[in-house]
Amino acid sequence: MRKNIPPSSLARDRRFNRIDTEQRMRDFRDTMVVGNVDPDAEDVADRARRRMHGIFVGEIQALEGAGRTAFDFGTDEVPYELKLDMARQCWDEARHCEISVKLAEHMGGELGEYAEATTLFEAACHADPVFRLAGVNRALEGLAIDVFTQMREVGQALGDPILEYCEDYMLADEVTHVKMGSRWLREVTENDKERRKEALEFQRIVDGLFNFRGQRGEEADSPIRLAREFRKMAGFSDGEVDDIAEMSAKSRAELESERMAAEFRAEAVAD
Ligand SMILES: [Fe+2]
Ligand SMILES: [Fe+2]
Repeated sequence: MRKNIPPSSLARDRRFNRIDTEQRMRDFRDTMVVGNVDPDAEDVADRARRRMHGIFVGEIQALEGAGRTAFDFGTDEVPYELKLDMARQCWDEARHCEISVKLAEHMGGELGEYAEATTLFEAACHADPVFRLAGVNRALEGLAIDVFTQMREVGQALGDPILEYCEDYMLADEVTHVKMGSRWLREVTENDKERRKEALEFQRIVDGLFNFRGQRGEEADSPIRLAREFRKMAGFSDGEVDDIAEMSAKSRAELESERMAAEFRAEAVAD
């Protein structure tokens, strides 16, 4: 079997509509599609469906990524126990795929209704397993912790116990996956601080990309709130969470000044 397959080799049937990360980010810039899943908003059902579809394709790729990491490296490169953890993660992610499909049906959504970008799998294609742990298990599954915590609250607010409990089960698993990432990143780089530093830098780049221009933060109105307590359970330090919050606040401020500049220009034209 081939090792280190590219994202273009991922098997999908015709229901799926693939876009690349660049297109995904362009769409996001144009439409701000992350959007707030506010239980009081009129279009909360649409927003929640879009969010759930994004989670669903993320689950498929998390399954594929963990499977590749279990397979792509020999025990001369990674501890055998790390491979076992990745196999355990595959089991969890396969369950999350099933939960997500049923949840999509429950919410009136449909498979392939929204596009699939392969960003998560791209982060799982790094040649160094430690970078995969940092980029996928810590950055992207850390994001899953934030998203599931929030969607669980949406389920509570909507009085929808199916949504609430599905999110709760998946959240518990994601905390375990991030914890695995924290553990193996620390242990594998114990005697190679430079490699650890570079992997954490990669994690920061992925986190920066997924701040969605400041939409993920700690302010009450942040579309995605950082789940600090669950992140700490999963091996994040307060400093690391502060760092993500700071990145986010910075991009929010940039976005705000861009908005003000655009308003100013529009007023100047009107005058
Ligand atoms: Fe998952
Ligand atoms: Fe996961």
